[in-house]
Order: sequence, then C-alpha cells, then structure tokens
Amino acid sequence: MAKVKTIGILTSGGDAPGMNAAVRAVTRAGIYNGFSVKGIYRGFDGLISGEIKTFTTENVSGIIDEGGTILKSARSEEFKTKEGRKKAYENIKKEGISALVVIGGNGSLTGAMNFAQEYDLCCVGLPGTIDNDLYGTDSTIGYDTTLNTIMECVDRIRDTAQSHERIFFVEVMGRDAGFLAQNSAIASGAEAAIIPEDSTDVDQLAMFMERGIRKSKRSCIVIVSESPKCGAMYYADRVKKEFPNYDVRVSILGHLQRGGRPSARDRILASRTGYGAIEAIMQGQRNIMVGVRNNEVVYVPLSEAIRSDKPFDKKLIKILEVLSI
Ligand code: F6P
Repeated sequence: MAKVKTIGILTSGGDAPGMNAAVRAVTRAGIYNGFSVKGIYRGFDGLISGEIKTFTTENVSGIIDEGGTILKSARSEEFKTKEGRKKAYENIKKEGISALVVIGGNGSLTGAMNFAQEYDLCCVGLPGTIDNDLYGTDSTIGYDTTLNTIMECVDRIRDTAQSHERIFFVEVMGRDAGFLAQNSAIASGAEAAIIPEDSTDVDQLAMFMERGIRKSKRSCIVIVSESPKCGAMYYADRVKKEFPNYDVRVSILGHLQRGGRPSARDRILASRTGYGAIEAIMQGQRNIMVGVRNNEVVYVPLSEAIRSDKPFDKKLIKILEVLSI
C-alpha cells in the first residue's frame, strides 16, 4: 500500500459535544507528523459533493470548547448507495486522500467500514456519539457531556416535582441504548429508569408502581429511554389511566441534550483518540476504531465496534433501585 501523505477528516451522524476537540486533535497531530490534513464538510455528503478544504493548525484554533462540529454533519442517504460511494471515492482520489478519519456513531462507522472494504481504503473511526453504544470503548465522545446536561435538567425538574408532589416522566435520548437513561438516573437521584436493556418481557412500569413509588416520597422522577412506541408519553398515559390519583407530567429533553460545551472528560477522550488515530495510521492500522478501555487507548476492528451488544452492567439497575428507596 502507498504511504499515507494526506488524511481526510469528517464528522457524521448526530453531532456530539467533543467532536470539535477530536477534529482539532486529528488535524494537529497529523500536521505535527508531516501529513497534509483535509477537512471534509457535511459528512459523507460533502465527500460525495467535494466540499473539501486543506486545513492548517489555525483552522482548528479556539474550537476545543465548542459544541457541535465546525465540519457540519449529515446522515447521508446517498452514501448508502453504490453510486454515492463511487462519487465519494472519485473525490478521495482527486484530493489525494489515502486515509480517512470518520468521527461518528454506529451508522457512520458502518458506512466507513463498507467504504473501506469496497475500495481497499484506510479508514479510522473515532467514537463520536452521545449514545455510548459503540462496542470496545468504555465511553464515546459526547456521552459524558450529555449525561451532565441531563443531570442538570433533572435537578431543575425535581424542584417543581417536589413542590407539586408530582410524578415526572423524563424522556432522554440514546437510540436503542439505555446508558444515558440509567446513568443519568443514578446521577440525578431519580426514582427509576425505564431502559431497553432491562428484560423486555417484564413490565417495568408495573414493577415500579408495585414497589410503591410513594412509600417514602411524595414526588418522583422516572427517566425513560426514548422509544417510538413506549416513550415517556406512553408511561404517563398509563399511569393516568391505571392510577388516576397521581398528578403526572412529562418532559422530553430532546435535542438540548446534544448541545453545549464539552466536558473535560469528553475533551480529553477526543484528544486522546484523535491523537491515537494518527498513531494508528502511522502504524499501518486500517479499518479500526480508536477507543479507550480501562484508561488505555485501544484499536477495535470496525466490524466489532458496530456490534449492537455493548455490555451493560446490570448491577446499575439494582444500585438505582436500592439507592432510591
Ligand atoms: O445518535 C444520536 C442521537 O441523538 C440519538 O440519541 C437520537 O435517537 C438521534 O440521534 C436523533 O437524531 P436526529 O437528530 O437526526 O433526529
């Protein structure tokens, strides 16, 4: 394989706080090591349309503390097609890019993996998603900031929940994963979390109501993982019907969870993995995601990183149950 001289970098999928810190780390570590670095705008869509610009260190000045992504992001439908990927590869060739760094979540890294296999290209992924659902890394870039954002929101909701003695169902993001819901529930002292990882044949709401939400408290907060069928509205409606004595409210946090300045943890994770991506390229690694496990930078094959069964510590469920009595 020809020696890598030019590295392309893009952000894809849902933006996540810390993506900018990752763009900065890849750019600066790349330039430091003698590579030319090109920023690709609007994710894979920009690779297809050729929105590509050579970066200097100044392009990434003053962005480590900014949320969102200066490269913009997109969920590209065109890149899912063979024709779209062909156009993208033509631009890769035209720009002389021999390694592509993709910062994104599950869908984006799946796209990167397919592209790499189809065109025998060096692709390196960085775990950029608030959902924390990538396998092989303890955390993903954006997850810690979002946890803190949710915690701060729930702290505020608790004031009104207590004042009015209400049950609040607070819906949080996470796509198919309950990491945000479970851990934000623990961090904010919520009374329960309803998450996809908990047994699907158990009615989590019924169990919770049976335990007696008001044994020692007159208000309560339940964090609910987003779900098209049974999100916070679904559970609130059920309580209204099944337990009409309770005063119930719903709060769907939505996209405010994705914004804001990245936490120190996310900036450090982004900097370590961004730096690690350049090291990986220099070592001749390809088609891997750079993650951090047990405080060590690790390379995870992309095919493994996108697995849908990231281990979920079931003990967290018990901890929440015990600590919320
Ligand atoms: O993957 C990140 C995420 O924020 C998920 O938690 C959520 O389900 C989804 O993206 C929302 O996507 P969009 O911003 O495209 O509506």
